[in-house]
Amino acid sequence: MDAFRRVLPARRQSISIEDMPIPERLNPSFASARPPEVDFIEEARKRLIVALDVPDAASAAELVGQLEKSCRWFKVGLELFVAAGPAFVELLVARGHSVFLDLKLYDIPNTVAGAVRSATALGVKMLTLHAAGGPAMLSAARAALDGVADPPELLAVTVLTSMDQAQVAAVGLNRSPAEQVELLARMGLGARIRGFVCSPLEVASLRALTGPEGVLVIPGIRPAGAATGDQKRIATPAEALRQGASYLVVGRPISQAPDPAEAAEAILKEMADALKS
Ligand code: C5P
Repeated sequence: MDAFRRVLPARRQSISIEDMPIPERLNPSFASARPPEVDFIEEARKRLIVALDVPDAASAAELVGQLEKSCRWFKVGLELFVAAGPAFVELLVARGHSVFLDLKLYDIPNTVAGAVRSATALGVKMLTLHAAGGPAMLSAARAALDGVADPPELLAVTVLTSMDQAQVAAVGLNRSPAEQVELLARMGLGARIRGFVCSPLEVASLRALTGPEGVLVIPGIRPAGAATGDQKRIATPAEALRQGASYLVVGRPISQAPDPAEAAEAILKEMADALKS
C-alpha cells in the first residue's frame, strides 16, 4: 500500500469558491452559445476499462500511475484481488477511479448474495458473476441489491472469450458459443440482470436482445496486429464498438506494452474515431 502512495501523488486539492468557473446554465451568454461539440476522446475514456492483471499491489500502483491521466476505469480481477485484497480496491475508489471487480462469482445463491453485498460495500461500480450459476443464483444476487442506493452494475459472464467451439463442447454443451451466450443472456434478463460480458462476436445479437438498456462489457479486444494470447473470440476496439459494445475491457495490449500510456492513448483514439463515425 505504501507503494501505491509513493507512486500516486495526492490528487485532491482544496479550492475556494472564487476559483470555480460559473456554471454554464447560470451564465447569461449561455442561451446564445452553440451546443458544445461532443468530445469523442472523453466519450472513449468513459468506455475503456483497463484490466490490472498484475501479481501485486506495487505493480498495480505503478500501472495505475502510468495510466490514470488517460483512463477512468480499472478492473481488479482474480490475480490482483487474491494478492492485494479489498484494501487495494478501496484505494482505487478513494482516488476517484471507477472500479470493476471481476471475481466471476459462482457458488450457491446464499453465498453469492453475501459476496455481492460485501463487494457493494467496497464501492465498486461493476461486479461479475457467472451466468452459468443458474437462475436461482442470478436472482439471489440481484435481490441482494434491492433497496441499495447507487448499486453496482451486476454483469453476468456468458461464455469466456477464451473458449472456442471445442472448449464449449468439452464441458458438455451441445451448442455453439453464440447459441450458449444467447441462452445465458435470456436467463439473465429473466433474473432482472441487464449487464452481460460476452465476446465481440456476440455483441450485435445481445444488443438486439437487450435493446439500449443492456450494459454490454466486452473483453477479447485486440488492436490490429496485437498478440492474441489465450483469447479466441476477439475483435478490434473499433469493431467491438460498432457492434454495440457499451464498454471495452483491455488487459495485456496495454499492461504489457513497452509504454502502457501510449498504448492506451492509441486505443482511445481508435475508439473515438469509431464513436465519431
Ligand atoms: O489481457 P486481456 O485483454 O486478454 O484481458 C482480458 C481481461 O478480461 C482479463 O482480465 C480476463 O479475466 C477478463 N475476461 C475475459 N473474458 C471474459 C470475462 C472476463 O477475458 N469472458
